[in-house]
Amino acid sequence: MVRVTSPTGIEAWLVTRYSDVREVLGDPDRFSNRSGQVGHVLANTPPDAPVPAGWFARMDGAEHLRFRRLLGPELSVKRMERLRPAVQLLVDERIDALAETAPPVDLYQGFAVPLTSSIIAELLGVPAADRPVFQKAAATLFDRNSDVEETEAAMAPLFSYVGSLVEQRRHKPGDDLISRLITRGTGGEQPFSDTELAVSAAGLLIAGFDTTASMISYGMLALLHHSDQLALLRADPSLIPGAVEELVRYLGVGTGLMREATRDTEIAGQRIAAGDFVIAAAQAANHDVQHLPDADRLDVTRASSQHIGFGYGPHQCVGQQLARVELKVVLETLQRRIPTLRLAVPFEQIEFKTDAAVTGPAALPVAWDSVLPAGR
Ligand code: HEM
Repeated sequence: MVRVTSPTGIEAWLVTRYSDVREVLGDPDRFSNRSGQVGHVLANTPPDAPVPAGWFARMDGAEHLRFRRLLGPELSVKRMERLRPAVQLLVDERIDALAETAPPVDLYQGFAVPLTSSIIAELLGVPAADRPVFQKAAATLFDRNSDVEETEAAMAPLFSYVGSLVEQRRHKPGDDLISRLITRGTGGEQPFSDTELAVSAAGLLIAGFDTTASMISYGMLALLHHSDQLALLRADPSLIPGAVEELVRYLGVGTGLMREATRDTEIAGQRIAAGDFVIAAAQAANHDVQHLPDADRLDVTRASSQHIGFGYGPHQCVGQQLARVELKVVLETLQRRIPTLRLAVPFEQIEFKTDAAVTGPAALPVAWDSVLPAGR
């Protein structure tokens, strides 16, 4: 463990070993999430800022569990697998749109971002015309260059927009996640307020598209670069679910996850004082050779690696089953419908995001010879 100064000036312990990272993330009694998981990279998320009602990612214990119990069943494996035909339709529509465009195209902004935005918006019942409100809020929140005021100015319209959706759906429920959360959140001992429902739904909109979009473009980059691995998927698409896990392990798209020690404690023999910040570097942990001897190798045939690319412990990604369905459908459909997909510039010229909390290529210029019709 080393002492580091983060980009926002926070001094913290950097934890990189797989077992140590799991220990930190798995013990919320000792390591609180109150200060926010990205306060060390984003100046717009100061650790001492008050936690808005419904912003469950910064809650601990029973308070946090109350929200996870509400959201968990709505984002379960079974429910998300039922979404697969809708996801397939949206992926095919986006690929049809690519077919109408002359390559090169940026696969990140020209395919992945619009795709994952429309999937999360469909799930929550946000009409297409209103999507810029959450796209702008997320772009500002995840940008290292935006300050507290700019972020508040971008988040306020989102909270009030989702607040109005909650109000509308309370009177006239639809077949969408917000309506179901209202129904499920209204009963019980501690009913959820409209603000809590709106802010937690806004959290899903914000967390739910750039992560997966970055994973799509970063994952495709890795596969195009390691063409032997892509060839394996083409030869045997049944490898795709395992490939998705391997790509999330190999690349991850989140920066380290910050926690704050609630009491004097120890990790790997290192004394940590109450109030110290700890950054659990999940990406480094996924490359720990003590856990996985050939961790630096991309291997789509790998059996379970028990990766922590979706986090670990009580804050483990609530949207991971949705992300998995999206990634599986995208990988399968891209390799089937655009078998000639290739990088349009040399690998060395790809630039990476350095000013955001979600990592990956800043743009992924790709080209192809032809796009096959859907369903072939
Ligand atoms: C490949 C795509 C994704 C990756 C790699 C990813 C990664 C993560 C990670 C590492 C965490 C843990 C944060 C922590 O411990 O502090 C997390 C939490 C979270 N993720 Fe994801 N995520 C992805 C997709 C999504 C999607 C699609 C959604 C929404 C549907 C989502 C919503 C959330 C939320 C709301 C949390 C906070 C959970 C909590 O604090 O209880 N994520 N994600």
